[in-house]
Amino acid sequence: MPKRTSAIERPPAPLVLVFDSGLGGLTVFREIVKARPDASYVYVADDAFFPYGQRAEAELVERLLTLTGELIAAHHPDLFVIACNTASTIALPQLRARYALAFVGTVPAIKPACSGSRTMLVSVLGTRATVKREYTQALIRDYAQGCAVTLVGSARLADLAERALRYETIDDDLVRAEIAPCFQETGARRTDTIVLACTHYPLLIERLRRLAPWPVAWVDPAPAIARRVIDLIGPPSPDARMPTSPARAIFTSGHPAPPALATGLAAFGLAPDVQG
Ligand code: DGL
Repeated sequence: MPKRTSAIERPPAPLVLVFDSGLGGLTVFREIVKARPDASYVYVADDAFFPYGQRAEAELVERLLTLTGELIAAHHPDLFVIACNTASTIALPQLRARYALAFVGTVPAIKPACSGSRTMLVSVLGTRATVKREYTQALIRDYAQGCAVTLVGSARLADLAERALRYETIDDDLVRAEIAPCFQETGARRTDTIVLACTHYPLLIERLRRLAPWPVAWVDPAPAIARRVIDLIGPPSPDARMPTSPARAIFTSGHPAPPALATGLAAFGLAPDVQG
């Protein structure tokens, strides 16, 4: 006898894999979850290779191509979000060419920042690697719209953000020194807009606002990335069911998450899973 279904079958919720070198991608993850709370998620932190900002380009591309293939084979995501500027600006075209899957990348939000600047002085704060990339230079050539764009490569902020999420004490002077070059003055004009071109930095946003020598607009790309995700997987259906257990956060090092980190992850609706 044919099997009878009493209710209309709902399509399965899509599986979205959100990937970063560490915990910065959580700032993108939380925006995507707000837009599609019913979807299934896997968060992957490549902590075994962190920080990406200090890796040579060739080794990083090789790592990303290999690891992405392994993650696709292990989890079969419907969508792969590279929640990392340092990875996206070097490997996104190659990942798209190699794997038949939809990828959403994260690249410096230079266009909206320059559109919104009134003083026409904009800074881009990213890892040293991201600010050097040709991808970033091309965004400035194409979208600066007459703004003077100052590139500021930070060696330490991503690591400080990781520590903040583990509830470690962060020295304000270290943060102040990293952001100081973003604040430019030319005659009567001062920088009014700073692009957060590393997904780790919004984890420090309250501190960044407090330590800024004057108020500026900090541009976080996460809401725009969440909108792009919805363009690709659609909005939740009106009768969507919400997941009953927290999504998994996988750490490539396999190190167990210390209790402070587990608490930090729980604030983002994630539970650590070291099995990979
Ligand atoms: N979260 C990464 C980004 O957006 C960078 C951190 C790292 O250096 O690994 O660029």
